[in-house]
Amino acid sequence: MADTPMVAAHHVRLGSNSGQSMTRRDGIAKVTGTATYAADNHPENLLHAVFAGASIARGRVTSLDIEAALAHPGVVHVMTPDNTPALSQDPDQKTTPFTARIDVLQNDKVRYAGQPIAVILAETLEAAVEGARLVKATYDSDQARIGFDDGEAFDPEAVGISTPPKFSTGDFEGNRKKAALSASVEMETPLQYHNAMEPHAVVAEWDGDHVTVDMPNQAIGLAKPGIANYFGIPPENVTLRSPYLGGGFGSKAVLFGPQMLGILAAREMKRPVKLALKRDQMFGPVQHRSATRQSVRYDMDADNNLLAFEHKANVSTSSFDNWLDGAANAGLSLYATPSISVSHTGTRFDTGTPGAMRAPGIATGSAVIECAIDVAAEKAGMDPLEFRLLNYAEKDPSNGKPYSAKALRECYKAAADSFGWKDRPLKPRQMRDENGLLTGWGMGTSIFHAPFFPAKARAVLRKDGSARAETSGADMGQGAWTALWQMAADGLGMAADDIEFDIGHSDLPDGSVAGGSAHTASAGGALFAAGNDVIRQLAEIATQDKDSPLFGAGNERVLGENGRLFKAEDPNVGESYIDILQRAGIEEIEGRGRGNRDKASTETYAMFSHGAVYAEVKVDPDLFQVRVTRLVGAFAAGRIINPRLAQSQLTGGMIWGVSFALHEEGMHDKRTGRPLNNDFAGYHIPVLADVPHLEALLVDEDDPHVNDLGVKGVGELGITGTVGAIANAVWHATGIRTARYPIKIEDLLKGAQALGA
Ligand code: MOS
Repeated sequence: MADTPMVAAHHVRLGSNSGQSMTRRDGIAKVTGTATYAADNHPENLLHAVFAGASIARGRVTSLDIEAALAHPGVVHVMTPDNTPALSQDPDQKTTPFTARIDVLQNDKVRYAGQPIAVILAETLEAAVEGARLVKATYDSDQARIGFDDGEAFDPEAVGISTPPKFSTGDFEGNRKKAALSASVEMETPLQYHNAMEPHAVVAEWDGDHVTVDMPNQAIGLAKPGIANYFGIPPENVTLRSPYLGGGFGSKAVLFGPQMLGILAAREMKRPVKLALKRDQMFGPVQHRSATRQSVRYDMDADNNLLAFEHKANVSTSSFDNWLDGAANAGLSLYATPSISVSHTGTRFDTGTPGAMRAPGIATGSAVIECAIDVAAEKAGMDPLEFRLLNYAEKDPSNGKPYSAKALRECYKAAADSFGWKDRPLKPRQMRDENGLLTGWGMGTSIFHAPFFPAKARAVLRKDGSARAETSGADMGQGAWTALWQMAADGLGMAADDIEFDIGHSDLPDGSVAGGSAHTASAGGALFAAGNDVIRQLAEIATQDKDSPLFGAGNERVLGENGRLFKAEDPNVGESYIDILQRAGIEEIEGRGRGNRDKASTETYAMFSHGAVYAEVKVDPDLFQVRVTRLVGAFAAGRIINPRLAQSQLTGGMIWGVSFALHEEGMHDKRTGRPLNNDFAGYHIPVLADVPHLEALLVDEDDPHVNDLGVKGVGELGITGTVGAIANAVWHATGIRTARYPIKIEDLLKGAQALGA
């Protein structure tokens, strides 16, 4: 792909499809049940796999009695470490920062509760489930260590995806000494377990040394070589199909043990195998959000300008791997300050390994930073919005770079106006509603990186005027089937309804990771460029063809739209794509594309999406039950491809903010290390009644530097800012700040006692 054009030639304007609030193009398939998720595949001769999980969190399996399981009707085999072959790559060996150490029956070690210790294969799902229940294990068990006070502390080498654990800039100590005021907050955030609607599932079928895998996946280009390494086959021998995901949020970007066990079982049994996780199996082997213990401090001068920002985070990981949420890096580029000191430490828990979860690092860090900045405003005697505006960062405080674009001021204003923020009393406990409920208003700033990944795409225009565009990209519910389709159609200068479009399998050009809020920019940029490459070739043909009205127009002077090529300066002069191709006798034109971000731009600019979120809560003055009654956000994320879907992503993120602030908490039994609330009865997430009024406003932002098309992401932006906004609203209603998330009734009651309220 050496001659793939890097820069779009702009033969086509992004805009006739993009910018429209098209409804989901996969919507009908989803609501009629014809969209095929991984577990919907039922190849002939299928075996069902169910794994038995460890009932201890740390130690060894000393014996496994599988007789009863094997004797159960329908059970055909039980895989244990005794009969499971070694994988070609040691599953504890890491090949990329995206690789997790996984548990695949390679030894007798137990590293977390629920870890797979045996896999039962049966003719029916029922038999496999019953077989798993009949496996009897004995253990040599050590005391589980879960929690910051019990786990083993260490100094990490990196946090997040290869980010340094410590950073400082400016005269931090000197500035601290000069400070007139300071505000600090200490808070903990809990383990949060990934619980997409669709639990991880795999259906695998081998044909010789070729394997076809149906598996929800956010990064087909990484998964394909990953699977190949584990099984000792060339990557081209892996076909991976992932047309639909029932949510990903980071948990489906890497490969996990259960999925590899399904593929391994299919190879062993020489039959297709399906392994689909049950809800309770989501609480261990497939990644979660690190727990954190954080402290944030802001120091100010006598005029309330920030002088120093300090953020320390102690972050959980597992006993056997090193993913650490980069919580203390969340504020590096947020508020203007001449000096910064951030640092991470790690603590090993006997849990599965954490990993990326919607806005990894930023969600946890922002949840505490936004409280600290509110406390700073309170100490300064200022309105929280005025204080944030006073300390507005015109340049990235961590490195002095200008922002590629930053319409945060406009976001603050748009959402404040819609919310009615100007009527907010400065002091807490000033507002009651007609039912006597304490009412509070709080705010937070949203921020998320705007990364860009090297995606590839292909487009084809045929002489009958039909066209096709494709990339391996992933729709995990965020709307890639629609937004990427719009960009692909714009690249080809055609209506979305007039092109074929395909994503979600490994035969297509690598669409890169659907993650980091970068998929629309990256895969969409590639699709646009691929279509544009087709039109560039078509323009070459037409402008050199004496019989074309475009003859001699010059390649750069023509545009394509609605299947017609025309002169830029005189749109009446032109002809259809079909006429050009048929006259030239060309069957089809193939275009290749990659989106582009200018290298110099990356070095020159700090690139982020921004937003502002305002929350209203109502709190029962006696029982301290908290309800979020209104959330209003405004967000700026460059060019918005599909406003309806962007708003859906943003409100989804805001709802997760409600979840973080008030609901979610993974709990483990201290003695056994087992999860205590591994179902939706015990692991609370918001329902519609928990989010009565939600607004996500989109603020125009022209970002000329972030990439060719000025597109940023919105997937992770909405959760940041929202969590702190809710905590700040709870403080404004009650005068109480709790020391941990989620904000709980018992902590508010204790706070009320301390206040004498
Ligand atoms: Mo994400 S946490 O980049 O899917």
